[in-house]
Amino acid sequence: MTSTHHVPHTTNNAGIPVESDEHSLTVGPDGPILLQDHYLIEKMAQFNRERVPERVVHAKGSGAYGSFQVTNDVSQFTKADLFQPGKTTEMLARFSTVAGEQGSPDTWRDPRGFALKFYTEYGNYDLVGNNTPIFFVRDTIKFQDFIRSQKRRPGSGLRDHDMQWDFWTLSPESAHMVTWLMGDRGIPKTYRHMNGYGSHTYMWINAGGEKFWIKYHFKTDQGIDFLTQEDADRIAGEDADFHRRDLYRAIDTGDAPSWTLYVQVMPFDDAPDYRFNPFDLTKVWPHGDYPLIEVGRMTLNKNPEDYFIHIEQAAFEPSNMVPGIGPSPDKMLLGRLFSYPDTHRYRIGPNYLQLPPNRPHVPVHSYAKDGPMRFDPARVARPYAPNSYGGPAADTEQFGDPAGWQTAGEMVREATRPRREDDDFVQPGTMVRQVLDDAARDRLVHNIAGHLAEDVTKPVLERAFQYWRNVDKHLGDRIVKKFNGG
Ligand code: NDP
Ligand code: HEM
Repeated sequence: MTSTHHVPHTTNNAGIPVESDEHSLTVGPDGPILLQDHYLIEKMAQFNRERVPERVVHAKGSGAYGSFQVTNDVSQFTKADLFQPGKTTEMLARFSTVAGEQGSPDTWRDPRGFALKFYTEYGNYDLVGNNTPIFFVRDTIKFQDFIRSQKRRPGSGLRDHDMQWDFWTLSPESAHMVTWLMGDRGIPKTYRHMNGYGSHTYMWINAGGEKFWIKYHFKTDQGIDFLTQEDADRIAGEDADFHRRDLYRAIDTGDAPSWTLYVQVMPFDDAPDYRFNPFDLTKVWPHGDYPLIEVGRMTLNKNPEDYFIHIEQAAFEPSNMVPGIGPSPDKMLLGRLFSYPDTHRYRIGPNYLQLPPNRPHVPVHSYAKDGPMRFDPARVARPYAPNSYGGPAADTEQFGDPAGWQTAGEMVREATRPRREDDDFVQPGTMVRQVLDDAARDRLVHNIAGHLAEDVTKPVLERAFQYWRNVDKHLGDRIVKKFNGG
């Protein structure tokens, strides 16, 4: 067969050369299509299976590879290898919006996901945070309801401000996060111009076994910048992928974005008497109480070669913690430890950890075996422990101590006991009065009044006005006035 081809010949998925890119096998040019056209059938069948379900939240996102370099010695607080002096660790980051679907505009007002995967010498460390140091609720049992109130309403298929404000005003613990969301940082200019936070309190453990409570802050080296509501609305129409395009282009042109990591460190024994509940995800630790300590710098410099493989199939899970790092009693974090690997097994499949973005960069000596799409050779010859044939054995001397804390008490369904200043409105009030300047406060009033003007019904509206007066009386009065056209 002669060929004028200067490009590779098309094959089917089994590598066999195909007869035509353009014509099905038929009986005569106008005749019926034949079942024996295996290639046509493969094309249709493969196409029907091209998607995995989108993430139930954070469906629209962007990501890139990079590295994390330690710049300061924090070994007195943690033995985690990725935070030891002089260390550089390869990593993957994925940024996202929360409530929108795959194709939704990047510039909708929403928190942004800030999910990181560090390929450490002791396996994957996943830090799955947001661009906010706080969250809307403080108990996992409310998360599903919260998300449903932000997504589409079953009858209309529309997002619905009345549902959003109904949930928020009935959940006063949301006030701090909603203040944040309605302010400038609710729409970052790009993913490069926002901070990332671990949000939860985590535990760090040093080589001597000493424990600390810590919070992560990734501060953007590009500077914080934001979009006004009007600019964001315009861009949503002009370029739904505005943030994805920006990140991809910046990295593609060698303008690698970076973030400096700081931690706040609380001595372990401070927790019971601290003025705020340090495990309440709706609260920050004021910087004045626990100052920021520099740790290192994360730089993103490599775009994914294939978006689906590396970003759509990326699976982050807060339960991936490495020696030197542990959870805290935060009821949101503890729920999340279950949720993520569970959703990955459904969304991608039980062997999702074999895939390129998720595969640890160290040998895996796990006793897990088989399951759909398994392609790693058997990890151990005899898949059970204990065995006397040289199978892996847990190193209890080195890794045996759980990252735990003392606990006892009756089983209850109750809110954590309030602390001296544990009021849902104290910290948002501080933000409004002491952190925002006049122009930022004006935009906050403008954004809230505009949001409330879209189909919020009377009783919910009244509660919303009171909610804002609770945050700050003057702010609430201004919102009411603005809403009424003043
Ligand atoms: P500080 O004055 O020390 O810190 C205030 C922080 O607010 C800044 O460092 C900055 O955080 C952040 N900030 C600045 N502008 C905005 C904005 N428009 N929207 C949201 N955050 C902004 O005071 P405290 O630590 O005592 O905190 C006071 C209040 O500031 C808190 O009640 C909380 O609402 C807010 N805040 C506190 C943070 C913390 O971890 N302590 C973090 C962020 C906000 P950054 O440098 O991280 O950008
Ligand atoms: C994604 C559950 C709270 C940050 C997800 C996903 C689920 C989920 C099921 C989809 C994951 C996937 O399909 O890959 C929960 C539950 C929560 C909770 C049950 C509360 C108990 C939070 C909080 C944060 C957060 C508090 C931030 C501090 C993220 C991020 C993603 C995500 C960044 C996207 C990860 C990625 O880029 O792939 N969450 N979440 N979530 N969540 Fe949560």
